[in-house]
Amino acid sequence: MSKIVQGNFQILANKKVGVDYFKMEVGAPSVVKQARPGQFVHVRCRNSIEPLLRRPFSFHRLKRSSFEILYKVIGQGTNLLAKKRKGDKIDILGPLGNGFQLSSINYQLSTILVAGGMGVAPLLALAEAGVGKRSCPVLIGARTKREVLCAKDFKKLGAKVRIATDDGSLGYRGLVTDLLKKLLLSTKNCQLSTIYACGPKPMLQEITRLAKNFRIPAYGSLEENMACGVGACLGCAIKTKQGYKQVCKDGPVFNLQEIQC
Ligand SMILES: Cc1cc2nc3c(=O)[nH]c(=O)nc-3n(C[C@H](O)[C@H](O)[C@H](O)COP(=O)(O)OP(=O)(O)OC[C@H]3O[C@@H](n4cnc5c(N)ncnc54)[C@H](O)[C@@H]3O)c2cc1C
Ligand code: FES
Repeated sequence: MSKIVQGNFQILANKKVGVDYFKMEVGAPSVVKQARPGQFVHVRCRNSIEPLLRRPFSFHRLKRSSFEILYKVIGQGTNLLAKKRKGDKIDILGPLGNGFQLSSINYQLSTILVAGGMGVAPLLALAEAGVGKRSCPVLIGARTKREVLCAKDFKKLGAKVRIATDDGSLGYRGLVTDLLKKLLLSTKNCQLSTIYACGPKPMLQEITRLAKNFRIPAYGSLEENMACGVGACLGCAIKTKQGYKQVCKDGPVFNLQEIQC
């Protein structure tokens, strides 16, 4: 289990990378030391009572002594984050959660990464940990071309990137899960594949259904509203076949067949 660190760390960069998207790099050697893809940090967006709750963000990139998060500005917390400047300090709690079990990934077998919207954030860290270098398929879904993120980063690793947009402005017109179904139907011995996914609930539900039909394992990184982030408040409980689990402590990565929703 990773040792959880809490402290003020220096922001090394905080750049706008899309319409409402920012990438922040934080120098935090003690946090990254034991961190792995799929884990997350719980961030205090301002050093005051408001907003009281920290906000969770997945590791997008894990470097030797720093990490990056990729975030979308949507509400109070992320608006405050977007105003931070290089050199500012930020209060970080992490690494939290289970993360992807890298030791259980069989690199001889095919891995398929499926990202919906901001779901690219943890999957790039997973690809950089070695999965993407096996020229694995990476399927990215977004509403429009402007919301397609990280395609170049995955390509640089050697991954075979395919894109689906709802409006057809880039790549396949339709859902990323349609692309996944086509891929599985066209793959010989697709039962030898494993799916790693992150994205909105309906996307993960469809992946669960496809994985069951094609009899392949599928792991997904789930998002739930969080308060404490460390398993103390039960605010992020979800129902699984083994009873209730906490997304912050038992997840956020789950075997999708175990989730009951
Ligand atoms: C494990 C995990 C990883 C994530 N990784 C990423 C990522 O890499 N990139 C990204 O863009 N997003 C990520 N998210 C989503 C991200 O945490 C939210 O987008 C972010 O919290 C929005 O904060 P906000 O203040 O801007 O939005 P708001 O809509 O203002 O606030 C939403 C959050 O505030 C809290 N909150 C607000 N009001 C209440 C209330 N009354 N009661 C309880 N809780 C309340 C909740 O925790 C909720 O999550 C992740 C979420 C999880 C769970
Ligand atoms: S956020 Fe408190 S238990 Fe998960």
